[in-house]
Amino acid sequence: MTTQIKRIGVLTGGGDCPGLNAVIRAVTKTAIWKHGIEVVGIEDGFQGLIEDRVRPLAARDVSGILTRGGTILGSNNRCNPRRYCVRVDPVTGPVWENVTDRCVDTARRHGLDAIIVIGGDGTMASAAPLVEAGVNIIGVPKTIDNDIVGTEITFGFLTAVNTATDALDKLHSTADSHHRVMVCEVMGRNAGWIGLTAGVASGSDIILLPEIPFDLEHVCENIDFRMKKGPGFAIIVASEGARPREGQQVVDRIDPTSPDPIRLGGIGRWVADEIAKRTGVETRSSALGHIQRGGGPIPADRILATHFGYHAIKTLMEGKKGRMVVRQGNVFGDVDLLHAAGKQRLVPVNHPLIEAARAIGTGFGDGKTPEPAAHAEPMGSVVV
Ligand code: F6P
Repeated sequence: MTTQIKRIGVLTGGGDCPGLNAVIRAVTKTAIWKHGIEVVGIEDGFQGLIEDRVRPLAARDVSGILTRGGTILGSNNRCNPRRYCVRVDPVTGPVWENVTDRCVDTARRHGLDAIIVIGGDGTMASAAPLVEAGVNIIGVPKTIDNDIVGTEITFGFLTAVNTATDALDKLHSTADSHHRVMVCEVMGRNAGWIGLTAGVASGSDIILLPEIPFDLEHVCENIDFRMKKGPGFAIIVASEGARPREGQQVVDRIDPTSPDPIRLGGIGRWVADEIAKRTGVETRSSALGHIQRGGGPIPADRILATHFGYHAIKTLMEGKKGRMVVRQGNVFGDVDLLHAAGKQRLVPVNHPLIEAARAIGTGFGDGKTPEPAAHAEPMGSVVV
């Protein structure tokens, strides 16, 4: 199918992640060099569309940014055109307005035939009113959380896993030296992909996921075994969205001006304090926080981001509208963007990696991993 695309915009929305610049580069170069399309960059996500902050992007503007962290366009995770905080009233709080028309006007004023929106589920939800208003949007799935519906992977995730695994490896040696329990809190919102993947990659002993509410009794039994009959230290990964069976997620902050106001954080510290109290074992906690979002992308993410950027333009040039590029079964394709908007892809509790982890004795705090004490020789014993 031929299509009349002459000029497009590109924006990055939501929390930043490694690989955003690699996508911007791939989108811009493919558009300009392969199709002769003009590209403009929209600054700070949808904020730039609302405030008409748009600048031309030439191929030279995206040269050398493949390896750079962050986004040259800026981003914003508090900006949904349908529900936009125009000001905060000192008495009544945030005042919301639907500013979709302002975004549509900016797109028209700049003659944009389409906008490539690089973002997570919140950004896709923010794009929805524009799609409904007739603006052609092609989404590219981004987030360290890897929780976007419709794609098996998002760029940024593998770099975050790499960062978390590196941190866990470092915690391993200090836990060993001091015979301590180390709890490391990782990001991911309501999804445990980072916790599960970095936990297995680092050989952590217990992994606490939002998808598997944990029981502190089981966690402490496991610690007790490792301290008395095992190596004398333990590493626990706690996803920020993890919660005890009878409890709630720990909220770090509420941002009233954001359409998605809850910011999780603090479960790692809580788990560490409880373990110390219940077992008497010296326990420390570290929260990796935004370190997981920073820095340049690892090679796998540079490649994924380049594929996604190229496929976004390919999808557009096939005449498609309102699509999000995805990878499924290692094959690139596209799905209805509205299908991904505002949803989260959680870790299935029977995920093969969870099964493999349980088989090698990794606990998930739910008592379902076979107790090592039940069938193993104490570590350090000599089996003749
Ligand atoms: O969605 C990406 C993410 O880093 C989450 O893992 C985390 O919960 C959240 O964003 C933090 O948001 P903020 O940057 O607003 O603190």
